[in-house]
Amino acid sequence: MHVVWDLSVILQTYIICTSSAQPITSKLDESWWAYKDVVQGSFVPVPSFWGLVNSAWNLCAIGKRQSPIDIETSHMIFDPYLTPLRLNTGGRKMGGTMYNTGKHVSLRPDKAHLVNISGGPLGYSYRLEEVRLHFGSEDSQGSEHLLNGQGFPGEVQLIHYNQDLYANYSEAVRNPHGIAVVSIFIKLSENSNAFLNRMLNRDTITRINYKHDAFLLMGLNIADLYPDTIRYITYEGSITIPPCYETSTWILINKPVYVTQMQMHSLRLLSQNEPYKIFMSMSDNTRPTQPLLQRCIRTNINFSKQGRDCPNNRALRPQYRGNTKDGHQ
Ligand SMILES: *[C@@H]1O[C@H](CO)[C@@H](O)[C@H](O)[C@H]1NC(C)=O
Ligand SMILES: *[C@@H]1O[C@H](CO)[C@@H](O)[C@H](O)[C@H]1NC(C)=O
Ligand SMILES: *[C@@H]1O[C@H](CO)[C@@H](O)[C@H](O)[C@H]1NC(C)=O
Repeated sequence: MHVVWDLSVILQTYIICTSSAQPITSKLDESWWAYKDVVQGSFVPVPSFWGLVNSAWNLCAIGKRQSPIDIETSHMIFDPYLTPLRLNTGGRKMGGTMYNTGKHVSLRPDKAHLVNISGGPLGYSYRLEEVRLHFGSEDSQGSEHLLNGQGFPGEVQLIHYNQDLYANYSEAVRNPHGIAVVSIFIKLSENSNAFLNRMLNRDTITRINYKHDAFLLMGLNIADLYPDTIRYITYEGSITIPPCYETSTWILINKPVYVTQMQMHSLRLLSQNEPYKIFMSMSDNTRPTQPLLQRCIRTNINFSKQGRDCPNNRALRPQYRGNTKDGHQ
């Protein structure tokens, strides 16, 4: 439908239509949101409406530290005190279950395998909760973060919660310093990243074609997912899905990972729906970028000029050239 939604009318209609059947609160549940308009069928709020349909989600509309953002490299501040990120796997491989959630490809490590990160901008130890994939219908889009206005075919997000302060993800996500997300851009190449290859080879990815499909993977080494660099960019932001809590430290790795064109194609063939419903590609599962406002983007990339007048030293002209295949050391 190519109309401008009048939300109050829609919600009124919605309440009238459903009030006899069930209370509206049961529909305003945590999964009642979407990235894109559905062609046919009932109204589901797209990103510009997330903050309006549910008062518990109002940060999505009025928050001032939201994610994702467009990383403008000219706004980055070199911070010589940023140490390398530390990944602790205990030297063990992990098992995990890969899901089609209807919105993302999601890999959840099983509880027996603890993987945590610390160091870098993090003051605490954070345990890996989920590996989540965002990707586009075209090669020029699909990442949530942009680099100087440029999108990438996809973005891997490794979502961790603060295990020093909180008992679990759900408690951490709504509290200060709760979440740390390591984000890695996905680009296309002849060869794919070893970890992503385990998830995205044809035999595996086709097991989760439809919503709620799940598939168990064993012997995964999360270290394989990390590109070979200690360079990153970091800022304070939010989770990128409702309720948009502003509790996330973002760490964007300064090198991409690669998947093949075929694997990207397989991702685009995943459906947001159950098998008995109409096929709707999961691709373009991205929230639009949000304003940076008064925040700093810090980096441990030494581009020689140091800026201390955070947040926006517009005179800085770093040598940073973004994610190129050859990368940086
Ligand atoms: C982080 O993971 C390592 C390796 O599994 C483990 O030895 C360490 O105790 C963990 N740290 C915390 C705070 O749980
Ligand atoms: C998370 O931890 C809190 C506080 O300990 C607890 O009340 C809650 O039930 C836990 N939630 C889950 C999903 O385990
Ligand atoms: C950053 O690079 C400049 C120029 O190469 C160098 O003089 C400076 O010592 C470096 N700073 C740090 C903290 O590495």
